Amino acid sequence: MKKRVVILTGAGISAESGLRTFRGNDGMWEHENIEDVCTPGALRRDPKRVKDFYNFLRKGLPAHKPNAAHLALVELENRLGDEFLLVTQNVDDLHERAGSKRVLHMHGDLMKLRCMSDASHEFSFTGEETLETKCPFCGGKTRPDIVFFEEVPLYMEEIQDALRECEEFVYIGTSSVVYPAAGFKSFAKRFGAKVTCLNLEIPSYDPDTDVFIQGKATEVVPEWVKNFK
Ligand code: OAD
Repeated sequence: MKKRVVILTGAGISAESGLRTFRGNDGMWEHENIEDVCTPGALRRDPKRVKDFYNFLRKGLPAHKPNAAHLALVELENRLGDEFLLVTQNVDDLHERAGSKRVLHMHGDLMKLRCMSDASHEFSFTGEETLETKCPFCGGKTRPDIVFFEEVPLYMEEIQDALRECEEFVYIGTSSVVYPAAGFKSFAKRFGAKVTCLNLEIPSYDPDTDVFIQGKATEVVPEWVKNFK
């Protein structure tokens, strides 16, 4: 079904729930090297290190609660039904815990593991992944369900179809530097969508974005949803 709106969220929407963003002051990638925890090479070289990193993030997640921005997107979804699609770069589960149903985790899901022998074997997981953790379907080795740098994000075909036909594309709380997500705005624009950005920091100029709304997600997202027609 044609979408009225496709939303893309990034780490900024979860910042006020207490989760670290990736870039900028005190960002995740200031504390960890991407090459140590978020590449296929890291998983080959030192799988324990990679699994421990995501175990740590998974364990901390329940302490963080969805905020007003996550909840506002649920309200919009309830209004629009199948005309709404939420694509997130976030691997946290705050959209789901807020109540979002039509969510695609294009960079994976911290609350899932994947089989290394058959990528279609993915399963919910809440504990600590070790080197001994086995795929429940085939007994293969597992890995976090995280799309590492150098890997292809998930659901790309579905996302592109939605972007091609949507009336409005809205990106929220993302620095728009990681591709392919960073290219969604120009793609949607080329196919005729209105493009809106809600973020703490906004660029002085971006030819693909029609509307910029600057502010904290918990303030600007509920307001934007309230005014959405
Ligand atoms: P970034 O950390 O790159 O960007 C976060 C954006 O959120 C910045 O533009 C901030 O200005 C903005 N921001 C911060 N606090 C905010 C708030 N309270 N309200 C609104 N905006 C706020 O995060 P992403 O763009 O999500 O990938 O990063 C993209 C990908 O890079 C991530 O999915 C991750 C990372 O490497 C993987 O791990 C595969």
